[in-house]
Amino acid sequence: MQDTIGFCQETRPESCGFILFGATGHLSSGKIIPALFGLYKKKLTPKDFYFLFVARTAIELADFEERLTAAISGTESKPALPEIKGFLERVEYIRADYGNDDFYRRLARRLDELDAKFNIRKKRLFYLATPPSAFEPITEKLKTSGLLVDPGNRTGWSRVIIEKPYGSSLESAYSLDTGLKQAVSEGQIYRIDHFTGKETVQNVLALRAANSVFDETWNNGFIDHVQITVFEELGLEGRAGFFEHMGLARDMMSHIFQLAAITAMDLPASFRDMDFKSEKKRFFESITGLDKESVSRQVVRAQYEGYLKEPGVAAASTTETFLAFKFHVDNDRWRGVPFYVRAGKKMGAKKTKIDLIYKKPAHGIFKPMDIGYPNVFSFTIQPEETMAFTLIAKHPGPKLCFTPRKMELNYRVHQEELSAPTEYERLLIEAMAGDQTLFLSSFEMRFIWAFISPMLETWTWDSGSAPLLGYPGGSEGPAEARALIEKDGRKWLSPIL
Ligand SMILES: NC(=O)c1ccc[n+]([C@@H]2O[C@H](COP(=O)([O-])OP(=O)(O)OC[C@H]3O[C@@H](n4cnc5c(N)ncnc54)[C@H](OP(=O)(O)O)[C@@H]3O)[C@@H](O)[C@H]2O)c1
Repeated sequence: MQDTIGFCQETRPESCGFILFGATGHLSSGKIIPALFGLYKKKLTPKDFYFLFVARTAIELADFEERLTAAISGTESKPALPEIKGFLERVEYIRADYGNDDFYRRLARRLDELDAKFNIRKKRLFYLATPPSAFEPITEKLKTSGLLVDPGNRTGWSRVIIEKPYGSSLESAYSLDTGLKQAVSEGQIYRIDHFTGKETVQNVLALRAANSVFDETWNNGFIDHVQITVFEELGLEGRAGFFEHMGLARDMMSHIFQLAAITAMDLPASFRDMDFKSEKKRFFESITGLDKESVSRQVVRAQYEGYLKEPGVAAASTTETFLAFKFHVDNDRWRGVPFYVRAGKKMGAKKTKIDLIYKKPAHGIFKPMDIGYPNVFSFTIQPEETMAFTLIAKHPGPKLCFTPRKMELNYRVHQEELSAPTEYERLLIEAMAGDQTLFLSSFEMRFIWAFISPMLETWTWDSGSAPLLGYPGGSEGPAEARALIEKDGRKWLSPIL
């Protein structure tokens, strides 16, 4: 194991009850239940805890335990039987009827009993893994039945975790947010963007904070431009019901701006959540929004060929599966440095990465030749987790022959060594510990909607000025996406590098 410096001991979260609504759903079985089991297995659960799973489906306890066993057996390492048994001893299932006050009375009684059994004093984390339409009705009933403890109350606490999509338009997002806040305050709401739970994303901040050689050069004095790539190889995979109404812009924008913020925000005074959030807010406030005219100049949208033949897709669907755009950050650090973004489905490679491209060298020695952009700092988030720095070195032989070289650190090697928490495990630990650093604030959620609204409006009302283009599956998107960056005299980096 490597030597480590800093706060390397994982903080054990506060004792609490974890209540999962929508426990029969895909998110629960695919992500949340495996993450709860992972925490249990890694001994990262609080000292005292229980899991109460809630859903409308009537299921016998034995069937439910079978489902749980299936969900946790699908995880990478095959769990041993005693581990599964120990986990199941902490789990209960209760059938819900969300519109009925009797259900909340039953729930309150059961929670009090579980609190008493596990020595927990009204400390409760509610995860709403239901469709967003259920967020408001459930939180309102939790509030009126006295199940939500007000902040500052010394007898316990209540927190609520929700998942995107946070609405489908600026108006619906505001309305959802305002509705939620009738029952829970901002300090109690934990909005997940699972990208922030990824080790490599947090590593961007660690690298910047600890190595002044990099952060000191991450500004318009040294950086020419920034590229953000979020490519998926897969297409719809049977998710037309969800994606047809979302489209790529709504689906991906939160991930894109979380990556941008963590890469380019000024470093906070401390990593306490309040400092972190206020610095991140300042970054978002510096981003120049798009107007209708810039949408036609700075945004490219496209749909992959064959999308209309996917099961469940409308014959004349105009849902975009690819997006490329450019934005600017109007602050002292980044003024004049364009950020280029491209994201899409059915691309030639699965790749999520951020590249900071340094300016070309000014030295006269390079006058006779164009060596391109020699220095690039790249963070790859998936499928591999690496950080790399490209530089130019002399090629052995002729005096003035240069060659690009890449120094690379494969982060996953170390992650596996330490069996670090997965992204959902990390986010659950933080929510149980009451740390909002890795969660989206109301401000960020509203910013993202305000940013994409001009795109959505232009595509709806003036589609001629921003036409929907096509691109073949397995490619890097339409030629217009190349033109977007090439007209500025730059080039996309290869997504497979
Ligand atoms: N799946 C993912 O990977 C993923 C990724 C990002 C975000 N999300 C978000 O996470 C949430 C859950 O996703 P999911 O894929 O698990 O959804 P899902 O499978 O469609 O629904 C989850 C569960 O919610 C319950 N439910 C359905 N309609 C309901 C309603 N009107 N009121 C109350 N409960 C209802 C159902 O359980 P019962 O009928 O048994 O109660 C269902 O099993 C959604 O908000 C989704 O947008 C999911």
